Amino acid sequence: MTTNGSLLSGEVNLMSNAVDGVTPPFLDLRDIVIKHGDRTAVDGVDLTVAPGEFLALLGPSGCGKSTLLHVLAGLRRAHSGELRLNGSPAAADLSGKLRVGYVFQDHRLLPWRTVAQNITIAMKSAGVPKDEWDARIDRYLGMLRVGEYRDSWPMRLSGGQRQRVSIARALAVDPDVVLMDEPFSGLDEVTARAMRLELSRLREVSSVPTVFVTHSIKEALFLADRVVTLSHGPARVLKELSVSLPRPRQYEDPEFARLEASVVADVLKEWELTDAAPGAPERRAS
Ligand SMILES: Nc1ncnc2c1ncn2[C@@H]1O[C@H](COP(=O)(O)OP(=O)(O)OP(=O)(O)O)[C@@H](O)[C@H]1O
Ligand SMILES: [Mg+2]
Repeated sequence: MTTNGSLLSGEVNLMSNAVDGVTPPFLDLRDIVIKHGDRTAVDGVDLTVAPGEFLALLGPSGCGKSTLLHVLAGLRRAHSGELRLNGSPAAADLSGKLRVGYVFQDHRLLPWRTVAQNITIAMKSAGVPKDEWDARIDRYLGMLRVGEYRDSWPMRLSGGQRQRVSIARALAVDPDVVLMDEPFSGLDEVTARAMRLELSRLREVSSVPTVFVTHSIKEALFLADRVVTLSHGPARVLKELSVSLPRPRQYEDPEFARLEASVVADVLKEWELTDAAPGAPERRAS
């Protein structure tokens, strides 16, 4: 991942630090606007991530999901808005305050380094003490069930195995937050289903707050504690939905199907409305 060198800036208005006795959100973004040059990519998004929460960001292609994730990672500056970390106003340099485990759509493993070496590079850059490297590599590759590929070249692995390694790499830095940008969208549906189940299983032993970007309603409902649906770009929040279905979830569960149908109805209505009337005033769903 490349940084653009501009982190959350002084242009972000910082809120007061009043905490009202309730555990504050881990991350709290309010009215965040992000621009690429003169073009607005994210247009006034409010978003919270609770401690330990798995949040899905669901939105159409090009709506600004990755851009928003880059701000959460401290890799891009917000043009305006307010941001808090654990209840405290976040200073300009968010990346110095959060250890981020990032999982991309493509695995981004270095082909000329073994699986273990790829994970080592991430741990080294995150400042993990050297005497912990070996144990962490074994632990996380084991958790992701790819321990046998420790000394393999990434190109000898299947797409699903590479994504398992890339999740292990994200977890091995002992992240404060995991950010996943459509990590399974390049996989066939059978492998993607297996990976979702794996991730769901991992949540039983690791409760690192996670923001998971996806186009897939099924995927969002299968994985997330809460689903935030975004509009066509520039991204605005259309709806939020808490998902309290027991885990592991079943796609065929009637309640799952009911939720899916309701999200499909919301998404079709909102996304088609914007499509059907380009240039028309955009509106928020109530
Ligand atoms: N570096 C950049 N410079 C200028 N415009 C950009 C840049 N990166 C993204 N954009 C634009 O910002 C908008 C949002 O892009 P972004 O990559 O965040 O969307 P996305 O929701 O992640 O899309 P996808 O689902 O296809 O990955 C798009 O219109 C895109 O063309
Ligand atoms: Mg993207």
